[in-house]
Amino acid sequence: MKKLIQRMTGWDFIRMGKGIESRYARCADYWQPHLECSKAFVANNVREGGTLAVLGAGRLLDINLLELVARFDQIHLYDADPTVISSWKKKAGSAYGDKVFGHIEDVTGSLARWTRGLSRAGRAGKLKEYLSELEVGSGAWEHQGYDGVISLNIIGQLPLYWRDRVLNLNPQLNDDENAALQGSMGRLQIAHIEALNRVSSGWAIAISDTEYYTYRVDESSWTVDPALHGKSRDAFDDMLVESSGSCGEAWLWHLAPQFVESDTEGAIHRVEARAWFNSDTRS
Ligand SMILES: C[S@@+](CC[C@H](N)C(=O)[O-])C[C@H]1O[C@@H](n2cnc3c(N)ncnc32)[C@H](O)[C@@H]1O
Repeated sequence: MKKLIQRMTGWDFIRMGKGIESRYARCADYWQPHLECSKAFVANNVREGGTLAVLGAGRLLDINLLELVARFDQIHLYDADPTVISSWKKKAGSAYGDKVFGHIEDVTGSLARWTRGLSRAGRAGKLKEYLSELEVGSGAWEHQGYDGVISLNIIGQLPLYWRDRVLNLNPQLNDDENAALQGSMGRLQIAHIEALNRVSSGWAIAISDTEYYTYRVDESSWTVDPALHGKSRDAFDDMLVESSGSCGEAWLWHLAPQFVESDTEGAIHRVEARAWFNSDTRS
């Protein structure tokens, strides 16, 4: 069981990361508008100078790293998937290790701890209680005093790894357990947004999926699922938008076009962007 948990806690990030990489290879043209909108929002809303953290940096598809290197003293990239390091080194070039630094870690600071107690709670029939009582910790990035932080298309994803770990060990949740799982997913997102708001001396940008649309080209209606759980939608909306990129504050990401990724359905994500500035950094 210990081995299984170890495999689950690192391999899920690698597996999902490889999935993003291969899907991008198949869908690059469809993704391009979203990637450009993300880059434009970041470019228009960063407050230049000092230190910057990028959370969910991944393969740096949705941010122009080199442009930012010229505008900051240091840039710290964060992701839980160790396979992204080669992309970071490639895109940063000689700046890697000089002005650009990589950190492979869980930005919620919670997933390893939460996962450790899962199987025991399931075996004891106490899953609902366990899930209900989980408290979110803090990620190491929160204690570094960065001047600016960008949460880069990660908030919608934060709870999905956790949800899958729970369902892998406990495939059949009852209604109470399912509600408790949903609650814990929302808490991960709210804590992340609150941490962005706490970047006390600086500024933060958050770009995130907010809704998932699933369509079939032969049907006139589509399904809508929320990407923000619990009160995280309100917390996200409470972040100020002071200016915006060329796409405004919301756009669509054609993630998985029907007949490219699947013959039976396609997926589009609604993406929204917010920027928060401490009053001292408004300029
Ligand atoms: C949709 S991707 C964002 C796109 C990414 N900026 C890129 O260009 O590849 C989300 C990224 O967040 C990372 N991620 C998800 N949950 C995380 C967590 N708890 N801690 C750190 N990274 C996480 C994933 O590994 C993935 O690289």
